[in-house]
Amino acid sequence: MTKPPGAQGDPSGGPGEPRSDRWSDLGRPPLNSAALRRALVREGGHGGLYCDVEVVQRTGSTNHDLVQLALKGDAEEGAVLVAEEQTAGRGRLDRVWTAPPRSGLFFSVLLKPTEVPVRHWGWLPLLTGVAVATGLSRAAGVDTALKWPNDLLVTVGGEERKAGGILAERAGSEGVVIGIGINVSLREEELPVPAAGSLALAGAVSTDRDPLLRAVLRSLEEWYGRWREAGGDPSASGLQETYAAGCATLGRTVRAELPGDRSVVGEAVAVDGDGRLVIATEDGVQEPVGAGDIVHLRPV
Ligand code: BTN
Repeated sequence: MTKPPGAQGDPSGGPGEPRSDRWSDLGRPPLNSAALRRALVREGGHGGLYCDVEVVQRTGSTNHDLVQLALKGDAEEGAVLVAEEQTAGRGRLDRVWTAPPRSGLFFSVLLKPTEVPVRHWGWLPLLTGVAVATGLSRAAGVDTALKWPNDLLVTVGGEERKAGGILAERAGSEGVVIGIGINVSLREEELPVPAAGSLALAGAVSTDRDPLLRAVLRSLEEWYGRWREAGGDPSASGLQETYAAGCATLGRTVRAELPGDRSVVGEAVAVDGDGRLVIATEDGVQEPVGAGDIVHLRPV
């Protein structure tokens, strides 16, 4: 992968890169890009998903950069772009994603599931949610859950808080860029909104970002491989069932805020074969919701 224009160098000191601030925040050390590459990239393209892991010190948005690289033909399937800091991080529904430098993991992965029918591609962000939740539960030792479609929830002082989010963006016909943001060491006073949380606030056993990133990327590689082998079928790959088991939205009373100022209130009863949340309303209607914001109102 070519380095994105506008992004600033590798903070852990890649060839020709300054190592200037390696020791500037001992509580938040930089990622070790060389070790990440060694652990994740299988040389000669043997079997593994990842072809390159690039860590940049600062950029606007890793999603923006990777989409641009993919459109120019400068990034392959399995290219991973990680930033220690984003100055224009993007979230779902035109929101922003902000976090202090090195306080979390901010990265994007280019996927090109060309042999999977496009009608199944909508499962990619949900698949990523499952992979992130599984990887972090293992590596950070925190209980995680997913709020539909793919917000990562942790429990802080008995309250559900959002510690991570996923943004999938099409790169024209070049595939899909999956962007992942995870709050790792954020302290209470640094949270962008009161409903946010972090792995540290949820009592993580480790906030060392290198093993956390490796665990998430390995888990993504595993789930993506399983899904592709099943031709993208969410049921045959076990994805639909695993997603439902880890989804905190199911069984709850929710309000879905839909595009066009419409909302639907009811019990979230299922995630259908297209990845939509099915809401059973008081009038006995089962309404599948494919996009929008979900508010958890109360347990049923
Ligand atoms: C959301 O919860 O709304 C999705 C947030 C996604 C944030 C990540 S951080 C890395 C990648 N680059 C971006 O600009 N956004 C995603």
